[in-house]
Amino acid sequence: MNSSKSPCVLLTGGAGYVGSHTIIPLIESGYEVVVLDNLSNACKGDEGQKPVPITKVEEIVGKQVTFYNVDLLDYNSVAQIFDKHDISCVIHFAGLKAVGESCVIPLTYYRVNVSGSINLFEIMKAHNVKKLVFSSSSTVYGEPKFLPITESHSVGQNLLNGYAKSKYYIEGILQDLCNSDKEWNVIILRYFNPVGAHPSGQLGEDPTGIPNNLMPFVAQVAVGNRPCLKVFGNDYDTIDGTGVRDYLHIMDLADGHVSAVKKIETNSVNGAVAINLGTGNGFSVLQVIETFSQVSGRKIPYEIVGRRQGDCASSYCDASLAKSFLGWEAKKTLKEMCEDTWKWQSMYPKGFSTAK
Ligand code: WQD
Repeated sequence: MNSSKSPCVLLTGGAGYVGSHTIIPLIESGYEVVVLDNLSNACKGDEGQKPVPITKVEEIVGKQVTFYNVDLLDYNSVAQIFDKHDISCVIHFAGLKAVGESCVIPLTYYRVNVSGSINLFEIMKAHNVKKLVFSSSSTVYGEPKFLPITESHSVGQNLLNGYAKSKYYIEGILQDLCNSDKEWNVIILRYFNPVGAHPSGQLGEDPTGIPNNLMPFVAQVAVGNRPCLKVFGNDYDTIDGTGVRDYLHIMDLADGHVSAVKKIETNSVNGAVAINLGTGNGFSVLQVIETFSQVSGRKIPYEIVGRRQGDCASSYCDASLAKSFLGWEAKKTLKEMCEDTWKWQSMYPKGFSTAK
């Protein structure tokens, strides 16, 4: 970064799993980072302190991170952040993301995810900030019609939960916004399955309550917090009958955001461009269990149970557009994803809540 003043990037939801890991390569790439988060899904610090993930990031990068405990639904408080900082680009992570929960409280998901996003985009427009990276999801593809999934796969069809629909609606809002105003540069990143932790072991996925997702659950079984993993079905048409997914190391995902910001800073993104972020490889549940057991040296007791509602057999992406458009590709292996997860879980067996 050779400009006299580093461009400032605002991360909404920057205290969350993906957001907090993304701060690290952004700062290492010379960007100034400002974070807002309502801490609905992040470990709070002591009274008046920054949340634990932010203080851990500060320790890793050796720099302070500007943090605001603000909710996107609080229009004035968000606008004040744009008044105070010369924001060049926004990475929009903030949102609720539990698939099962979104089926129980859909209105909350639409209010937080969709209304919160509209607030943000209006404030950006009012401050003439029109460069955005949006955290979307492979769930907008619904049940895959073909594999590997390319960005031309249909989206928004037969979506089974409010989470996926909220991401799909926000993508549509961004397409309409860009069609109405050609000054917007938007990159929509469709994540496949983010897993892993920062190699230091000082930052990782710290789900509250019972983990919905496979990797954190496996890690909690390995460290002894949970007795057994339930494997949701082994009668799929896959290599061993269990579900196959495109697992992506969180640090590769974080680097993908930096590549997107660099691309957007060139002002060469016309409109809203959707890009898959994944490895392009699929691994089964049993392959994840075996790999994790090897790297941890721990047995992972599991029980085969019925399929989970809404699951598909296989989902993995064609990652060639990320390579050609962003110059990005995933580098880390499943073994490294498990090694880094295990290092984090071993250091924080009960997660951050016991680390304050
Ligand atoms: C992976 C595989 C399960 C838990 C999730 C989110 C989605 C998106 C990607 C952000 C499946 C099996 C899981 C368990 C199991 N994230 N499994 N036992 O469902 O592919 O997608 O991550 O956008 O929001 O839903 O990930 O980790 O839940 O499941 O057998 O206790 O592991 O059936 O085959 P999923 P997952």
